[in-house]
Amino acid sequence: MKVIIKPTGKLTGRVQLPGDKSISHRLAMLGAIANGTTGIENFAVSQDCHSTLACLRLLGIEAIREGDHRVTIHGKGLRGLQPSVKTLDAGNSGSTIRMLAGILAGQRFTTRISGDESLQKRPMKRVIQPLTQMGATIEAREANYPPLTITGGKLRPILYSLPVASAQVKSAVLLAGLYTEGETTVVEPVPTRNHTELALQEFGAEVGFDRNEMTLKGGQTLHAIQAVVPGDVSSAAFLIAGATLVPGSDLILEAVGLNPGRRGMVDLLLQMGASIEVVNERLLGVEQVGDLRVRSTQLRGGKVFGERIPQVIDEIPILAVLATQTEEGMEIRDASELRIKESDRISTIVQNLRAMGAFVEEFEDGMAIQGRQSLRGATIQTCSDHRIAMAFAIAGLLAKGQTIINGAECAAVSFPGFFETLERVMC
Ligand code: S3P
Repeated sequence: MKVIIKPTGKLTGRVQLPGDKSISHRLAMLGAIANGTTGIENFAVSQDCHSTLACLRLLGIEAIREGDHRVTIHGKGLRGLQPSVKTLDAGNSGSTIRMLAGILAGQRFTTRISGDESLQKRPMKRVIQPLTQMGATIEAREANYPPLTITGGKLRPILYSLPVASAQVKSAVLLAGLYTEGETTVVEPVPTRNHTELALQEFGAEVGFDRNEMTLKGGQTLHAIQAVVPGDVSSAAFLIAGATLVPGSDLILEAVGLNPGRRGMVDLLLQMGASIEVVNERLLGVEQVGDLRVRSTQLRGGKVFGERIPQVIDEIPILAVLATQTEEGMEIRDASELRIKESDRISTIVQNLRAMGAFVEEFEDGMAIQGRQSLRGATIQTCSDHRIAMAFAIAGLLAKGQTIINGAECAAVSFPGFFETLERVMC
């Protein structure tokens, strides 16, 4: 699908975001291994979360979608999953394959799981290593890439220091920890999103967590819950950037998830001078949410690196676009993880910004983007990466001339209806 974006007047109105993708994956997986029926409102409509549900169904779980936003999962307890004769298809979703690997490592059967072309190029050694140490047997192409063939069984608890800051890997080890008879501890180099820890607690498990160290006892029974998923802050990010950059904008984003591990972009923009009013802050179950009122402003710019990176990791494509319009520009470092996302995001961002006439310097672990740049319309190569498609749609709103987003359908991986929502708020 080809989408043409033209410069716009302003962004106004109210938007309800799709349910958070990260949280939806976790609730579905935990619901499947809990006792009883879990109901999830505002479950993510994203293709990635469809992939998680499809995998769970192949493992014998009844997961029913009612309307667009509600999912009911008939949990079968820790030991209730059944072997699948078919290969599980995680689609484009790194979270699905890596986190599910943790659960599959604890099953007394063998499962094959793979994904699309992009997922088959993403490294899995990061989960294979700890899960093997716990006692699972995992075969992979070149010992690193999907398809994974996971033979689980009785696992041993471990103390695992993550070599990279990854919430997916942390979650895989904690989920496998449920299938041990002792205490599993995960230590992160820097804190990452804690949705798994919070969700485990919501399902009744005891999890100790303190900044970057998590502890969980094996064999705990999970109990079904009724949950409501916050709006996805990573989807909101594109609209936050759009409303900040397009003069005259005034946009309200409702019930956006503001988990401290995810609100990094909101905090960063506030530091750079953005007009983002957070109102009606509240808890939705165990997760913090708030409504955001975003008005256009001139941003200063700055440097993003170190501990901050995991908090903005999925927002870097849109931050890079935003950087071109700041006063001082932006430098992004310590972000080499971006090279192994749905695309090599450092390279796709740099190439597309350059195609729009921007000056940007590429580093192995990030980029430096000059501020106060005029963008010109260009043809964007999304490399089938949802966040690149959406980030450059926002860039198109600011550019002279028209911007063509080739392969725009990939936006549905996280935000089906993104282009329709954008059209609706444009005046
Ligand atoms: C996610 C964690 C991050 C993030 C991804 C979702 C999660 O990946 O980039 O989009 O839901 O845990 P890593 O764990 O690889 O950092």
